[in-house]
Parts: sequence; structure tokens; C-alpha cells
Amino acid sequence: MNFKLKIWRQQDRQSKGRLVKYEATDISPSASFLEMLDIVNDRLLLRGDEPIAFDSDCREGICGTCALTINGEAHGSDHPGAACELYMRKFRDGDTIIVEPFRVRAFPIVKDLVVDRGALDRIVQAGGFVSARAGSAPEANSILVPKHDADIAMEAAACIGCGACAAACPNASAMLFTAAKVSHLASLPQGHPERTSRVLKMVNAMDAEGFGNCTNTYECEAVCPAEISASFIAKLNREYVRANWQQRASE
Ligand code: SF4
Ligand code: FES
Repeated sequence: MNFKLKIWRQQDRQSKGRLVKYEATDISPSASFLEMLDIVNDRLLLRGDEPIAFDSDCREGICGTCALTINGEAHGSDHPGAACELYMRKFRDGDTIIVEPFRVRAFPIVKDLVVDRGALDRIVQAGGFVSARAGSAPEANSILVPKHDADIAMEAAACIGCGACAAACPNASAMLFTAAKVSHLASLPQGHPERTSRVLKMVNAMDAEGFGNCTNTYECEAVCPAEISASFIAKLNREYVRANWQQRASE
């Protein structure tokens, strides 16, 4: 298969970027999108040109590193799935493909298609953890978790922290990400001792990073590779209201 590519090139955060045209020729339909970029980069290197910078790690949809906007959609159009799970057979021979970084003010561009998503890490650092001493692995049934709660926690824990939700949202809101992290721990008994402070700190951190607010466009849910439901945002709002009341009651 042959493709015409328009790829965002930008030397660093301060430089002005632009779309640069490349030809991706003789690409196997079985190649993944990232393998296609690897082939383009190999050919650029052979010509002595600078390769295109892009992020990837697991290449199997579990690490959230491959943040790419493909033809205007976070992770491309083959939802649900991360950019690394997109295959070239999903395109038509001769297609023009536009590849850009995630466009979110809180994710500054590092180079070309690489953005700094440290803002998401800082939201988790604000409270997305359980601070009890874990010690050795406890006996599995020592803390019983109702099946329904375990299922909710598992669904929320599927978030891979890719940031596509913020990239797709017209308000650049990271609420689906924050909602998943808050809901995961709020659903489990182990997360209850810090339930109130956690949601307040994480929402404050989210706001401080400059993410926007949710206005129910559901773009986040549409692009999420982990199929995190937007209903978790309603749960985050309930957790936040509950925590505010609890804090006031204790003053
Ligand atoms: S909620 Fe979905 S889109 Fe957002 S960071 Fe988590 S996995 Fe990515
Ligand atoms: S490279 Fe890990 S999710 Fe895509």
C-alpha cells in the first residue's frame, strides 16, 4: 500500500511547527501505524534526514504512550484502541494521512509528535494512591469486596493514562482520566481512608494544570482506548460534592 503523509514537525517547544509531506510506499497492510512510521523513519535515516520523533512503548494498547492525532482523531478512527493498535489495512490505498500531536495546552510539545503529559502524572501524585503500608501480599480473602464494587473498580482501573480524552475534548478536559483514577480507589475498601482528601486534591491538581471543564460532549468516551464510560465523570462529581460536605462538616 502507498500513502501520502502530512506529519507535524516541530524542533522544540519554542519553535513554530508545520505539516511536512512524506511518501510512505510499499507498506504491508499488516503493518501497524507505528511500524509504518518506523519504516518512514528508516528511509529518512538512510537519506541522512532527521527521523520523526514519536512516543511508543508497549505497542499493545496497555501503556498509553503512543499519543497521536491521526486525521483529526485522537488515536485515529479505529476506536476503541490506541494508535499502536491501528493497522494500515484500515486505510485505503493512496490515502492522505495527517498525523499531529495531541493538542492540549497542558501537554506542551517536546518535539514533532511527542508531548509532555506530565500533567497527568501530577494529578495522580496529588492523591491517586493508597498510602497504607502494603507489606507482603495479604491473604486474598482477608478484605472482602462486593462483586459489583470490584467490577466498577476494575473498569476504572483500565485507564491507561494516554490523555486522548483531553485531546478529544473541545474544552481540553481531563475529567475522564481523573474520574477513572478517583473512582478506581473510591470503589474499594482499601481506598476509603483517603477517599475525601484524594478527590479534593486530585481535582485541585487537575484545575491547576489548566485542563478545562466537562460540558458533556462525550468526545472523551468516544476516543478512549480503554472504553472508560463517561458515567465515571458523574461519579467524580458526586465524590467531589460528598468530599466538600464532609470537609465542611468536620470544620
Ligand atoms: S480515560 Fe481513556 S482516554 Fe482518558 S487517559 Fe484514561 S485511557 Fe486514555
Ligand atoms: S504504545 Fe503502549 S498503548 Fe500504544
